[in-house]
Amino acid sequence: NSYKFKLGVKGSKEYGFLVPLEYRDNLPIEVNRIFYIYNVPRNRKRGAHAYKNTKQVLICISGSIKISCFDGKNKTEYELNSPDQALYMSPNIWRETYNHSSNAVVLVLSSLEYDENDYIRDYDEFMEVIKCI
Ligand code: TYD
Repeated sequence: NSYKFKLGVKGSKEYGFLVPLEYRDNLPIEVNRIFYIYNVPRNRKRGAHAYKNTKQVLICISGSIKISCFDGKNKTEYELNSPDQALYMSPNIWRETYNHSSNAVVLVLSSLEYDENDYIRDYDEFMEVIKCI
């Protein structure tokens, strides 16, 4: 499954803002890996894959992006355009990111370390895999 959720923000306009992410409090995954994506051309799509086991939380800490999430039955389109928004994605979600604004920086929190064997990069394979779930 996938869902967007709001992060609690500390601070004020006068002092500036801070967003804490803490497992079990507001972070639904235990994080073992962090990466970020930036300077993606506006007309470029990224992603186009699913993971067998990895859970992720995406936060667009600057700018905006769109993400489509397909679970094999339903496709949901999300927009992340504020650093107080996050998107959770379970395993077996075919996702694509697009419409990256020129200043977009996407922070990705991952439950598992990088493992190419955890990727499903072939759409037909994805459709086969989710039939069996
Ligand atoms: P990829 O996950 O395919 O990016 P996207 O889904 O945004 O198109 O990763 C791009 C490249 O970076 C690919 O060669 C694998 C490598 N990579 C790592 O080495 N470590 C990582 O944690 C990630 C996410 C990717």
